[in-house]
Amino acid sequence: MSQANGKLAIVNIGLLATPTGNSARAGAQQGEVQKIENACVLLENGRITAVLERQQEHSILADYRVVDAKGCLVTPGLVDAHTHLVFAGWRAHELQLKLVGVPYLEILAQGGGILNTVTKTRNATEEALKAQARLALDGMLAMGTTTVEAKSGYGLDLETELKQLRAARALNEEHPIDLVFTLMAAHALPPEYKDNRRGFIDLVISEIIPAVSEQGLAEFCDVFCESGVFTAEEAREILLAGQRHGLHSKIHADEIDAIGGSELAGEIGTASAEHLIAMRDSGIKALKKGGVTACLLPATSFYLNKPYARARDLIAAGVPVAIASDFNPGSCPSFSLQFCINLASWQYKMTPEEILTAVTLNAANAIHRADSIGSVEIGKQADLVLWQANSLDDLCYRFGSNLAQAVIKKGELVKGGY
Ligand code: NIG
Ligand code: FE
Repeated sequence: MSQANGKLAIVNIGLLATPTGNSARAGAQQGEVQKIENACVLLENGRITAVLERQQEHSILADYRVVDAKGCLVTPGLVDAHTHLVFAGWRAHELQLKLVGVPYLEILAQGGGILNTVTKTRNATEEALKAQARLALDGMLAMGTTTVEAKSGYGLDLETELKQLRAARALNEEHPIDLVFTLMAAHALPPEYKDNRRGFIDLVISEIIPAVSEQGLAEFCDVFCESGVFTAEEAREILLAGQRHGLHSKIHADEIDAIGGSELAGEIGTASAEHLIAMRDSGIKALKKGGVTACLLPATSFYLNKPYARARDLIAAGVPVAIASDFNPGSCPSFSLQFCINLASWQYKMTPEEILTAVTLNAANAIHRADSIGSVEIGKQADLVLWQANSLDDLCYRFGSNLAQAVIKKGELVKGGY
């Protein structure tokens, strides 16, 4: 609901908790969160115009539409820096295979997994792709996620990769959530190139990347660097080709096996390195040296029944840690960043403050948006969540229900009955 003059005041905030700054926070700073009790935040024309220590007199607020937070916790909107948002083809049928122990990469090697979703995505209309992704975005927003990165990668051919990215772009226009687009044509080897790896890599480099870049459909390029998928050398070639066409790099690294993905990320300075479940010490050193944000995906560890990434070692080494959902139909059919918060607490042993930074400012940094979102500070975009919680501890402690009671996106109340 909008207010005529674009002014909104959130008063009676019990605790405003936010990281600060316009870049990722690493090491001890990741856990340094600004906390203001009994706060009031003023929003105008989609931006934050004041963060006040004490509630203002109502006369000052006469001009504002007032939202009474009734003493609850308020944080920046959550940023999901890693999703495979646009696809057709859920894979519930894989559950029984997984339950009897068939590994994720084995299902893929047999032509299922990602390739199953590829067939259905190729056959889906752009409208059908949008309809399914729109449902996910509605669910994300209701749970406090206000910005989402969306990867392609279920086309593995020019036409379908463009179709996925166009669908995402159209949703960005019509949905309150802001989207950031990533080309991930190198997500698997498509069946028609089964015996011609070189041919597919050439297609990605010479046709798909140039077309996507020319049409302005993506900002980032990502590669699945994994045993049986793409080697670190192949990932390097593809990511550097992306860079030549203006696409910043991201990489799925060390998700199942450590085959040099995180070392490559550090060497070529990717914006982020994702997963890092099997990361070696050399990977941590490389990320630190390359100034890379580690983007950890705890719900994928949960769903693949794998170990959890070494978050504490990354923080100790001074690598900024972001946390994202990895929402996709295979390794993580959930977009709940709230569940990721619970997992980060129990499995990564991160503090509530470190976790808040990971799902807001550091996640924003992983998608090059730390200057405009990820914290509640004057001048930033007015994306906030009012929680059914009194403290950051509450957010980490409660699980399984949706604690977001109101969501404000670009200064407008998009969820909540205020
Ligand atoms: O991040 N690992 C590659 N991509 C996704 C899974 C995609 C799928 O299984 O459909 C991931 O886990
Ligand atoms: Fe992923």
